[in-house]
Amino acid sequence: MNLRVSVIGTNYLGATHAAGMAEFGHRVIGVDIDHERIATLSSGRSHIYEVGLEPMLALHTQSGRLRFTTDYRLIADWADVHFLALGTPSGASGAADLSQLEAAVDALGPLLTRPTLVVGKSTVPVGTAVRLQDRLRALAPAGDGIEVAWNPEFLREGFAVEDTLRPDRLVFGVQSEDALELLEQVYAIPLTESTPVVHCDLATAELIKTAANAFLATKISFINSMAQMCQAAGGDVVLLADAIGYDQRIGREFLNAGLGFGGGCLPKDIRALAVRAEGLGVGVLAQLIEAVEAINAGQRVELAELAVAQLGGDVRGARIAVLGAAFKPGTDDTRNSPALTVAEHLYAAGAEVAIYDPQARLPPRPGFTQVATLDEAVTGAEIVLHLTEWPEFRYLDPERLGALAKNKIIIDGRLKLHAPTWRDAGWKVVQIGRAATL
Ligand code: UDX
Repeated sequence: MNLRVSVIGTNYLGATHAAGMAEFGHRVIGVDIDHERIATLSSGRSHIYEVGLEPMLALHTQSGRLRFTTDYRLIADWADVHFLALGTPSGASGAADLSQLEAAVDALGPLLTRPTLVVGKSTVPVGTAVRLQDRLRALAPAGDGIEVAWNPEFLREGFAVEDTLRPDRLVFGVQSEDALELLEQVYAIPLTESTPVVHCDLATAELIKTAANAFLATKISFINSMAQMCQAAGGDVVLLADAIGYDQRIGREFLNAGLGFGGGCLPKDIRALAVRAEGLGVGVLAQLIEAVEAINAGQRVELAELAVAQLGGDVRGARIAVLGAAFKPGTDDTRNSPALTVAEHLYAAGAEVAIYDPQARLPPRPGFTQVATLDEAVTGAEIVLHLTEWPEFRYLDPERLGALAKNKIIIDGRLKLHAPTWRDAGWKVVQIGRAATL
């Protein structure tokens, strides 16, 4: 059955969810307070770079199935279900800042005159859903007829459309049969494709999302700490990851050692979990997360120091080429980008940093020059740093680049380059945790 669905918040999560809902056959209205973004989305264009999103927006805005507005009055009593897809950035203490969610609830609540289901998708500290429900019930003329459910989103940037249309699993945190039935109608299409579903209470649903993020971050920091062991003892962390990854209980995914994790989600979500764990008296989880964060931050510092050491301990005035600015390939997102932290560190040490990224555009800032081509970055470079593993970097021609660079030294911060090929072309290749195979 086709439903009337509203999606409140239209950034990464909301825009993708709104388009996905239309793709599932529902009539959808996306709401945001940002007029410019609403104008862009209404014309079928995307304000973010995300593979496959724009064609879906164009198709469904043209057919009229997907609309966008800044006016909550158009959605309040129109929708069968409202989704909350607002950002939950880090607040001053590292705890999640819930002000966007609260503002959305405050705008919607007074307009809800009939019993309605409001479904949270954002990543939130455990206990938020109940608080928002209380707030909505206090504001809404429909009072206790308002019910909140939680249906966390696990989408990865660069795969957001794929993850929305074909999720690994669905989590329905609900308090009633009616809410469950409505969510089953919303997701009728993936459910016919045998997508696993977990039905649970609100707290479990909220915790599932943060647990998934914390586990992924822990896996990355674990393999990075093993890279340190390999570095110290002369082993090879890539072969180690391959070998332990064959054990199905472990799995090979998220065991790529290198510069560690960044982006708009993992770092902030695990910090918020640590703060919440501390608040609930589960200090041991907070300690685990702190260790994960410390390892992650350490990889960035170590890479920058390695670059300085390769140039004899002093990078003042040295031209350094940085390949990659996005926090990972396949996105233009530079939030909490490991590549940029390394670049900042080297700039602070006096280097001239030239950054090239195929997608990310940096706002003008002192210190870095963002160049339009890879050749421009490498020309005259005293050292080249491979910091975001865009596929195109894997197939670079070391012979040709060797003629452009001042020194043939490259640090592969993502352990993705084929070191023997570079070495054959006369390059010194440095990879943390791969000493044995160099
Ligand atoms: C992540 C979660 O995967 C997603 O489920 C959640 O909803 C939001 O946060 P995303 O931030 O898009 O998604 O990035 P992801 O692809 O998970 O990568 C996270 C970071 O880990 C990146 O910086 C990536 O470079 C790094 N990473 C990933 C590694 O360093 N090693 C790995 O093996 C895998």
